[in-house]
Amino acid sequence: MHPMLNTAIKAALNAGKLIGRASRDVDQLKISVKQQNDFVTEVDRAAEAIIIDTLREVYPSHAILAEESGTSGNSDGNSEFQWIIDPLDGTTNFIHSFPQYAVSIAVAQKGVLQHAVVYDPNRNELFAASKGAGAYLNDKRIRVTKCTKIDEALLGTGFPYRIFDHVDTYLTIFKEMTRRCAGVRRPGAASLDLAWVAAGRLDGFWEFGLAPWDMAAGALLIQEAGGLVSDLAGEGNYLNTGNIIGGTPKVFNQLLQAIQPHRTAALQA
Ligand code: IPD
Ligand code: CA
Ligand code: CA
Repeated sequence: MHPMLNTAIKAALNAGKLIGRASRDVDQLKISVKQQNDFVTEVDRAAEAIIIDTLREVYPSHAILAEESGTSGNSDGNSEFQWIIDPLDGTTNFIHSFPQYAVSIAVAQKGVLQHAVVYDPNRNELFAASKGAGAYLNDKRIRVTKCTKIDEALLGTGFPYRIFDHVDTYLTIFKEMTRRCAGVRRPGAASLDLAWVAAGRLDGFWEFGLAPWDMAAGALLIQEAGGLVSDLAGEGNYLNTGNIIGGTPKVFNQLLQAIQPHRTAALQA
């Protein structure tokens, strides 16, 4: 196993332990509102600090992009490595004791995703991938399903709940998908949704308006599990645009084709 993946796993497990302990006492939590429907708890912050400490011990000069503390490290800007961290993806679920949340850590080299970990502390499931070396759930290799038809696909998604700029476009697509495919699920933690596509529990996924830390690890997991991911233009810019489509190769293509006609001037990629 690559040392960077090893370190990412150690960091995710450390954070997962803290989240697991805190989940037994959610009513004691101090919750702050960052903006409408955007919550942060002391657990998000503490988990992020543990992850960053674990990474820093081994890679002190690498750049970091983390949800709660933003960019740090590498002040001269010349590290070719950047860690992309969501310490607790699915905070709203966590606050409600709805057991669907995860730790998400990825590292990119010169902008190309190299290693990824998504850890689900509720099920003790560790999804991990390194570029070119496949994707794993705990110690088992995972692959996307063999689903070839969107009509037979179980799709994951996330609907807008915070920023409503594209809500009408989203709902049009949602209506089409619920009519067309076998089922649509909105579990509430994008990193885990993507990991579940990689693990063959979902056949495809789409969401708009995500942050890079919601997607980075999950996107590499899907690719390494034999699936495809892109932005709405069918290109690889999803970490910048925030809009992602992923799935088995055939479901991905059909999803992209179904979504593309609904793009607006403000939602091109
Ligand atoms: C959120 C979750 C959710 C997605 C949101 C994300 P957070 O992350 O991934 O599924 O729909 O857009 O912001 O805020 O719980 O880390
Ligand atoms: Ca998130
Ligand atoms: Ca988060």
